Amino acid sequence: MSKVIFSVVALAVSFFLALAHSPVYDVKIVPEVCQKMPPVRSNYTPLGTTYKIGDMDVYESPYNSSSSQVLIFVYDIFGFHDNTKQAADILAAEGDFRIVMPDYFRGQPFPSENFPPSDPNDVQRFFADHGWNDHVRNDTELVLDYFKRLTNQTKFGIFGICWGGKMSVGAATDLSEIGVSALVHPSSVTTDEANFVKAPMYLMPSMSEPDMVPFYNILRTKLGEDNCGHRRFDNVAHGFMGARSNYSNPDQVAAVNETLSLINTFFHKELRN
Ligand SMILES: *[C@@H]1O[C@H](CO)[C@@H](O)[C@H](O)[C@H]1NC(C)=O
Ligand SMILES: *[C@@H]1O[C@H](CO)[C@@H](O)[C@H](O)[C@H]1NC(C)=O
Ligand SMILES: *[C@@H]1O[C@H](CO)[C@@H](O)[C@H](O)[C@H]1NC(C)=O
Ligand SMILES: *[C@@H]1O[C@H](CO)[C@@H](O)[C@H](O)[C@H]1NC(C)=O
Ligand SMILES: *[C@@H]1O[C@H](CO)[C@@H](O)[C@H](O)[C@H]1NC(C)=O
Repeated sequence: MSKVIFSVVALAVSFFLALAHSPVYDVKIVPEVCQKMPPVRSNYTPLGTTYKIGDMDVYESPYNSSSSQVLIFVYDIFGFHDNTKQAADILAAEGDFRIVMPDYFRGQPFPSENFPPSDPNDVQRFFADHGWNDHVRNDTELVLDYFKRLTNQTKFGIFGICWGGKMSVGAATDLSEIGVSALVHPSSVTTDEANFVKAPMYLMPSMSEPDMVPFYNILRTKLGEDNCGHRRFDNVAHGFMGARSNYSNPDQVAAVNETLSLINTFFHKELRN
């Protein structure tokens, strides 16, 4: 009898230990901090220019050479925000890239006045209305076609923050022109999606996202150790590199700097291959 009780207790203990030690990256929903934290006011004046590709505005940071490697930067739900453009401008200058940020929301991002919304499900609904297959995939292909014609480049990079991280998974899975990708504090990405990723990928979760090591382990097996990376920022919250960037906060500045520096090195390496 005591043996049975012991086994039951042991089973229960190991079950809870397993739960505690294997957090699964499986957020079909948007993280709570994303639904609650408003954008941070910016006093940055973007240095780049905005023009049209089809019916869509595109922001492009200043670049050195028309033949610099083109990267698509997929923004968060707040769309064209000066804090986000600041990160684009820094990377373009440091990495000698052409950084292109398409306005997928056509000037109608998630409204940042009265944030957080009275109904938290509004953020979730916004994600549902702007899925990869709804229009983002076609929009991205349009941008790639434009730059293929303009520069003769055949391989491109893509990286995204929050909602844009989720879209970058779609691009790295479905578009053969994508030669490298990165997810920075991504939302709504599930571990299972790693199985379908084809382009090399760097993962950069913040303290607000679940553990992405399970996702990373799948990438390592599929793509090889050299073609993926993982860096978790445990001292900054979701949104550190986007509309919620606080460039007065030294921890966030350091995290943005390191993120951009990792993208710089990894993207150049992969696009040379
Ligand atoms: C432009 O290229 C030069 C030489 O390659 C480099 O030193 C400089 O930092 C680059 N500037 C920008 C804005 O990319
Ligand atoms: C995307 O483009 C394809 C091919 O042009 C088209 O068949 C499809 O309807 C488009 N999808 C959406 C959601 O617009
Ligand atoms: C792209 O390739 C075509 C055909 O080889 C060439 O005429 C054109 O000058 C190239 N454009 C650029 C920007 O390199
Ligand atoms: C930004 O960071 C500074 C320094 O940590 C802090 O004092 C300020 O309250 C922050 N601003 C916002 C909007 O969070
Ligand atoms: C930015 O990152 C680079 C490389 O990680 C580091 O050498 C540099 O000191 C950092 N600069 C700031 C201002 O944090």
